[in-house]
Amino acid sequence: MSLKPAQVLLLVLVFFMDSASTGNVLVWPVDFSHWLNMKAILHELTAKGHQVTVLLPSSFQAIQFSEPPPFQLEEFHVPMSKEYVETFVEDFVRIWTYEMHELSFWEFFIKLYEIMEKIMNISKMFCDAIFLNRKLLEKLDSTGFDILISDPAVVCGELLAEKLHLPFIYSFRFSFGNTMERLCGGMPSPPSYVPASLGGLTDRMSFMERMRNMLFYFSQDIVFQQVIWKDWNKYYSDILADHSHWINLKSIMDELTARGHQVTVLLPSFFQAANTHETLLFHLEVISVPFSKADMDSLIQDGIVLFSYEKHEISSWEMFTKLYYLMSELMDRNKIICDLIVSNKKLLKKLESAHFDTLISDPLAPCGELVAEKLHLPFIYSFRFSSGNTIERLCGGIPAPPSYVPASVGGLTDRMTFLQRMGNMLFYLSQDVMFHQVIWKDWNKYYSEVLGRPTTLCETMGKAEMWLIRTYWDFEFPRPFLPNFEFVGGLHCKPAKPLPEEMEKFVQSSGEHGIVVFSLGSMIKNLTDEKSAMVALALSQLPQKVIWRYKGKRPETLGANTRVYDWIPQNDLLGHPKTKAFITHGGTNGVYEAIYHGIPMIGIPMFADQPDNIGHMKAKGMAVELNIHTMTAKDLVDAVNTVIHNATYKENAVRISQIHHDQPVKPLDRAVFWIEFVMRHKGAKHLRVAAHDLTWYQYHSLDVIAFLIVCVALFVFIVVKCCTFCCRKCGSIRKKSKKE
Ligand SMILES: *[C@@H]1O[C@H](CO)[C@@H](O)[C@H](O)[C@H]1NC(C)=O
Ligand SMILES: *[C@@H]1O[C@H](CO)[C@@H](O)[C@H](O)[C@H]1NC(C)=O
Ligand SMILES: *[C@@H]1O[C@H](CO)[C@@H](O)[C@H](O)[C@H]1NC(C)=O
Repeated sequence: MSLKPAQVLLLVLVFFMDSASTGNVLVWPVDFSHWLNMKAILHELTAKGHQVTVLLPSSFQAIQFSEPPPFQLEEFHVPMSKEYVETFVEDFVRIWTYEMHELSFWEFFIKLYEIMEKIMNISKMFCDAIFLNRKLLEKLDSTGFDILISDPAVVCGELLAEKLHLPFIYSFRFSFGNTMERLCGGMPSPPSYVPASLGGLTDRMSFMERMRNMLFYFSQDIVFQQVIWKDWNKYYSDILADHSHWINLKSIMDELTARGHQVTVLLPSFFQAANTHETLLFHLEVISVPFSKADMDSLIQDGIVLFSYEKHEISSWEMFTKLYYLMSELMDRNKIICDLIVSNKKLLKKLESAHFDTLISDPLAPCGELVAEKLHLPFIYSFRFSSGNTIERLCGGIPAPPSYVPASVGGLTDRMTFLQRMGNMLFYLSQDVMFHQVIWKDWNKYYSEVLGRPTTLCETMGKAEMWLIRTYWDFEFPRPFLPNFEFVGGLHCKPAKPLPEEMEKFVQSSGEHGIVVFSLGSMIKNLTDEKSAMVALALSQLPQKVIWRYKGKRPETLGANTRVYDWIPQNDLLGHPKTKAFITHGGTNGVYEAIYHGIPMIGIPMFADQPDNIGHMKAKGMAVELNIHTMTAKDLVDAVNTVIHNATYKENAVRISQIHHDQPVKPLDRAVFWIEFVMRHKGAKHLRVAAHDLTWYQYHSLDVIAFLIVCVALFVFIVVKCCTFCCRKCGSIRKKSKKE
């Protein structure tokens, strides 16, 4: 009997040793001769009892097995044929074998570059095929690999390893000029006796040869860093980055998935970065669009520059034309995307046969409602706002009396003087005209064509079953709303998690002064040199420690109390007990995180909804606003001191935070409840006000008023007529009687 524990222990030991000595290996292979080498390693690994899985692009050439291989093949589809790869390689061999000799050094260089570019293009396709394939990623993640083996001749293996949190090993022959080994692997290569690969030299070189060797190294460094790696750097950063603008919708989708619903996301291909998020659990339907993420980014950058820098230097007319141009460009692209969906019969059929229960969309970019109409689905909006609340008012039917409901982006609060009320009303009117006459015009035509009946964009938008607005009464001024409007601001906020160790140490070192968190969001990557120097100088004068999210050049005036990070766990920092203040550009997500954790803010708004958000926070007494163009270092220091030392800001922040937390049902649960409600009941028509079926003059009862006025006028007219008639009669009778 006493043996039993020993036996159990032994078993455990054996089991333990077993699992430690054989592992689960994932392989990112490279075609042709590279594969032969890799294969030898893999055979040996399997012989030793390891599980080996090879990721195999469908275009792969080299694998021809006479018998089933001893390892698993995980084939994934890439959008190119075996023939394409074959032709490319034949060309490659021909050029290399016959043409290279006859070329000058310079021509050789250019040829080499062209070949590299092509290889990189093919690699990118492989990469996309992996990272856009949610199912595959999930499967790989859940398999629990111990290691990844890759050949860096085709990039992406290392990215996959990073994504799956796996250690990785390279099997490699060489890169041109040993560039990867030297620059990434850190291998020393003195050009005096280590010949660059492909340079055609040996380790014994004359002076001229050493010169050539060195220049070859140099040229390769430049080609790799400036040309070949550039796109990839961005691609890698995107895949591994966080995506703030996507946070809100993603919270809802994660929750829906957690409750067992199937979620499918229609995704334009330029959206690449967001769709590859690690925890992405929903199905993706990628629509390839004829512009890249870079194109979209540059358009958005133009917008940011326009609002943040140019706005203050150009006339309002120039501003208007530039804005108009930008808007039409955005709308044009939107239309292209829309066209690719609604005119793609195959896609529509596929979507139809999937029998969705509901569609969720953001009305800022039209088309969601059109797809819903085409598929006969009830749809739900997740929305922050439109300028002047135009979409909510005109299409959603939400009442907005201009006397106390300030138009968004108008910069007013709910308490207005006579002139402000006048301004507010005119702002509403101007927005109505702009939307009706400019923004919606083309869309109305387009929607009518697609649906085959006369309609308008706004009418279609008005069919939304629910409007989930991304604010709440902690943020909004009280206003009337409709039963199908639900205010769910802050649904992405979560309790803080522990900080990374190094950051926690820095935070703790702040002592009783605490820390200040500073972020201008993910879209502002750098400031001008003077601005960043000024900001750094101001921050250095604070007794607090500062954590600054900033990707630009490190300013020289950076103080010892300030640390700069490319990325910060913002929610966790704001929830840290040492955090005293938040310097922010005023994006809705950041503002809500501050509300959630009760942190007063210094707002430096730049564009879009930011001035509006900070305006609300200022009116609620939990923020101070600064102007990025006119502020000085002293202003910034004063603002931080005010927010920290004048207790009213913290008190207001805590009060608003309490209001935010004191809700019968959490915002995320409410959002999801309504989505499920719409699915259960195939809509929420009982919440729909009849205002949608009225014309504008009926809505404002102008017809009734006009009718009443006419009645009154008629009555008055008749009375007057009667009176005059009577008077005349009386007069003539009196005259008659006088005569008599
Ligand atoms: C690589 O792809 C880019 C963008 O898709 C394209 O412009 C370029 O011509 C391609 N280069 C080669 C060599 O195929
Ligand atoms: C930010 O950096 C980019 C690229 O380095 C540069 O083109 C741009 O002018 C910079 N922006 C500012 C405001 O300095
Ligand atoms: C604190 O700030 C509030 C609001 O700006 C202001 O009314 C009050 O006078 C300030 N208190 C002190 C002590 O400065």
